[in-house]
Amino acid sequence: MKECNCVFLIFGATGDLAHRKLLPAFYFMERENQLKDSLSIVCIARKEKTTEQYRKEASDSIRKFSRIKVDERLLEKLVSRIYYHRLEFSDKKGYAGLSRFIEKISGQKSGNCERIFCLAVPYSLISHVLGSLKNAGLAERQKKGKPYCRIMFEKPFGHDLKSAKELNSSIMNVLDEKQIYRIDHYMAKELVQNLLVLRFANSIFEPLWNRDYIDHIQITVAETLGVESRGEYYDKAGALRDVMQNHMMQLLSLVAMGAPKSIDADDVKNEKVKVLKSIAKSGFSGNMAIGQYGEGIVEGKKVAAYASEPEIRKNSGTETYAALKLGIASKMWKNVPFYLRTGKRLKDKSTEIIIVYKHTPFGLFSKASPEKNMMVIRVQPYEGITLQFNAKVPGNKVIIDNVEMDFCHECKFGPNSPEAYERLLYDVMAGDQTLFTRWDEVENAWKIVDVILKNIKKLKLHIYEAGTWGPKEADKLIAKDGRKWVEPKRPAYAEQLGK
Ligand code: BG6
Repeated sequence: MKECNCVFLIFGATGDLAHRKLLPAFYFMERENQLKDSLSIVCIARKEKTTEQYRKEASDSIRKFSRIKVDERLLEKLVSRIYYHRLEFSDKKGYAGLSRFIEKISGQKSGNCERIFCLAVPYSLISHVLGSLKNAGLAERQKKGKPYCRIMFEKPFGHDLKSAKELNSSIMNVLDEKQIYRIDHYMAKELVQNLLVLRFANSIFEPLWNRDYIDHIQITVAETLGVESRGEYYDKAGALRDVMQNHMMQLLSLVAMGAPKSIDADDVKNEKVKVLKSIAKSGFSGNMAIGQYGEGIVEGKKVAAYASEPEIRKNSGTETYAALKLGIASKMWKNVPFYLRTGKRLKDKSTEIIIVYKHTPFGLFSKASPEKNMMVIRVQPYEGITLQFNAKVPGNKVIIDNVEMDFCHECKFGPNSPEAYERLLYDVMAGDQTLFTRWDEVENAWKIVDVILKNIKKLKLHIYEAGTWGPKEADKLIAKDGRKWVEPKRPAYAEQLGK
């Protein structure tokens, strides 16, 4: 049978996501020979321009943003697959024109092509664009023996549970879950993908991953960036919607899930959803602190306060920092607190998951004050894992010191693991949904965050100095339980990497 032509359509093709992430990712895939010969990339936006103009802009962006050195011959090959099509997204009739355009470039009826719609548009437009694609005969439910039709889009998946449900039902009116690829780019980070292997392929860790051995777990997603040019979006979102509802809930559910029946996407997601439901069941104690960055010094440069960033509303009460404590109502995690914190304009960029183990059950060396053992999973930067344990300092007396054993991902596997979008574009074309978010994950994460959002209305927003680790109230939150945040630090192997 003749191979179907494949058309990848980027809506919002003049935007940041397309230029910084998608086009460079396509270049990587071209270099790795991962693109079908018959693939065309149709870039769609409102602006008037020709394919030639767009190809030139795309080449410039790829040269600028590609993480690998660009070979001009390969770039030319990629760019020859790219077409530009102007479309006013609200113009329902325009979509018939898009269908004719696809037929022209593919030489096939558009319904006979494999179609992937990548909607890099505000979430308020997603239902409308998809509905119009349906009316033009471009989007339809998967039928046996017919070429596939898939959509992919990024968070935010709604503003709260209600709007997320509305968005989802409008999508489900057109497509089935198997055709929907919701992107959470954290899932494509190598150390996040490694979590299941770490937990379930290692008999030295797996039996200890529960309430009997673990004292508590911390998850930190710290950024040095401020809101950049996204003030209008961010001011309506805040840290809880922007990062907690998606990236942090994904990390938390992967860390806390029970063993799945298999590594099939659905089996893994079933376990993750059980965790999210158990968090909701355990109820939110209201233990949290929120903050907003004031001015300060980040990475040696003076930065402005959130309140004076462009597009931020006067007297905005939006949180740029949130720290909270959650519990999980399950046998595995009874009485084990999970402390989560995320914020912008903090001291360092760092995403870490920290497993803090309990003390040994009998205090043979308690006089020498051994520290609790710890496993630090460095999602970024300095991808890797550090185990901290106690060792005897040489000498006659028993003096105990805390020592570290490191696994440096890049030292072992090299610097070139695929970046998030390189992996995600490959997977959507291969029809693999493992790294994408299923609807019930989104829904249950919103159920948790909706409750948290209700709580923050009652809380004081603390202004913290940019370039610090956030408001003091976050330290108090964990100190109440006799614990403290583990400060991200540069591992010993950073030097070896020249970072
Ligand atoms: C995005 C958020 O989802 O994740 C941004 O909208 C945040 O506000 C970004 O900066 C962080 O991603 P990463 O990969 O840089 O940790």
